[in-house]
Amino acid sequence: RKKVAVLISGRGSNMMSLISAAMSPSYPAEIGLVVSNKPDAAGLTKAADLGIKTAVVDHRDYKGDREAFEHALNGLLKDNAIELVALAGFMRLLTPFLVNEWRDRMINIHPALLPSFKGLNTHERALDEGVKLHGATVHFVSAEMDDGPIIMQGAVPVLEGDTPETLGARVLGVEHQIYPKALELVANGKAKVKGQKVSTTGSDASGSDAL
Ligand code: GAR
Repeated sequence: RKKVAVLISGRGSNMMSLISAAMSPSYPAEIGLVVSNKPDAAGLTKAADLGIKTAVVDHRDYKGDREAFEHALNGLLKDNAIELVALAGFMRLLTPFLVNEWRDRMINIHPALLPSFKGLNTHERALDEGVKLHGATVHFVSAEMDDGPIIMQGAVPVLEGDTPETLGARVLGVEHQIYPKALELVANGKAKVKGQKVSTTGSDASGSDAL
């Protein structure tokens, strides 16, 4: 089983979906560490309650020095023999240092169908644009924000009368479905980066999950 660190900044519902999946002995990854850049992230207590090792690397201790923050984080990952990193609502932009250090071994979930709606407030912006389909994307992390080879996407309809909250809740449901599946593909070597894209192999290796 590949040893995975999940990086969070808040509630940690995606982290919980990964932890739940990894409770199955046949799952190819184990969650060996949860790290937050915020000491008060609710996800930290949820992970600790399940007996998972947690740590805080508070970005405020590094006074805007992003690389110093990332060196501390990277040291922690190395000390814990981490093999894969899963960002789950980790709200810090990464520098090329950490991205290069974990190239093809760090994945992220974004609440939109990339390359549409990179950045924040994705559900509000999707409603403003009048798109009829919205969703979530799991991708390998590259130097650009919310960019990098796409591993898996899940789509949901945008319904009449949706608010950012109702649409966001529908998208979150699909996030919780696709993130464990995508991590599984990465951990068992079935999703591999080939240039700008990911090729998936194996009978259960579908890269989409439309509801
Ligand atoms: C999730 O919707 C995730 O996709 C999003 O933050 C939320 C975290 O929720 N991530 C981003 O916006 C990254 N750019 P969670 O803490 O309950 O998993």
